[in-house]
Amino acid sequence: MTSSELSLADIFKDVKLKLITISGKGGVGKSLVSASVAIGLAMRGYSVGVLDADVYGPTVPKMLGVASRQLQTDEENKRILPVEGPLGIKIVSVDFLLPGDDVAVIWRAPLLNKILREFLANVKWSFIDALVIDLPPGTGDAPLTIAQSLHGAIDGSIIVTIPTEISRRIVIKAIDFSRRLRIRVAGIVENMCCFRCPGDGKLYYIFGRDVGKRIAEEAGVPFLGGIPIDPELSQYLDSGRLHEFMSRDSETSRAILSAVDRIIEMYRDRLAK
Ligand SMILES: Nc1ncnc2c1ncn2[C@@H]1O[C@H](COP(=O)(O)OP(=O)(O)OP(=O)(O)O)[C@@H](O)[C@H]1O
Ligand SMILES: [Mg+2]
Repeated sequence: MTSSELSLADIFKDVKLKLITISGKGGVGKSLVSASVAIGLAMRGYSVGVLDADVYGPTVPKMLGVASRQLQTDEENKRILPVEGPLGIKIVSVDFLLPGDDVAVIWRAPLLNKILREFLANVKWSFIDALVIDLPPGTGDAPLTIAQSLHGAIDGSIIVTIPTEISRRIVIKAIDFSRRLRIRVAGIVENMCCFRCPGDGKLYYIFGRDVGKRIAEEAGVPFLGGIPIDPELSQYLDSGRLHEFMSRDSETSRAILSAVDRIIEMYRDRLAK
C-alpha cells in the first residue's frame, strides 16, 4: 500500500489531538489563532504540529518565521517531513508548495481536492500531542473539501470571529458547518474583541461587546475568550516572531494562553493518552 492510499485516520494515528480552525469569513485572525494556539500548547509542554491548509492564503509559516524553508522528504518512503519551527513546532503548509508569494492560486475544486488529499496523506507527522489545522476561510467549497477529507480524524473546531453583529450569522454558519461534519465545536474565539488605549489606559470595545460570548451561549458551545487588537502583536506577526510575542507577558499573550488552557482542560483525557 502506498502512502497516498492510506486513510487520513492512519496518517494522523500518532497524533493525540487534532483541531481545525475555521472562520465564517476571511481576515478575522484565523491564522493568528491557529499559530498562537500551537505556540501556547508548545509553551505548556506539549509537542505540537501545525498544518496550514489554507490554499488561498497560507500565512502560518510567515507568522512562525519559517516562510523561506523547504519541505524535505524521508529517504526511505519519500514521505514529506514537516519543517521544524520555534519551540520545536512541526510545520507543514501548502505555502511550501506554491511558486511564490504573489502568485494567485486558481486551482479548480476537483484538482484542489486531489492535490490536497495527496499532499495531506503524504506527510509524516510522527508522534505529536496536538495538531492545529488552519483551514481556508469561509464555509464554502475549499474548507469543506479539506474538512471532509479529514473526516473522522478531527477532535474539535475552533471558530474565530470578530465581535460585530453582522458576523453573528456567519458564526452560526460556521457552527453548522462543524456540526454537519460531526466535528465537536471546541469553542469560539473572539479576535479583536477590544482595544486598550495607551493614552488613557481604558478598554474600548470597538466593534461591539461580548458578541462572540452571546453567540456561544445561544448556540450552546464554549466561549474560549477574546483577543484584543494589539498593534504590537501585529508587528511581531509581520516579522515572523509570534513565538517571541507569546513568551512576553502582556494582556494579549495572557488572553491567548487562557484560551489555550481552556482547550487543554477540555481535551485533557485525549492529551493524556
Ligand atoms: N488581535 C489582533 N491585533 C492586531 N492585529 C491583528 C489581530 N488579529 C489579526 N491581526 C492582523 O490582521 C491580519 C489578518 O489576520 P490573519 O491573517 O490571522 O487573518 P485570517 O483570518 O487568517 O485571514 P485570511 O482569511 O486571509 O486567511 C494580520 O495581518 C494580522 O497581523
Ligand atoms: Mg489566514
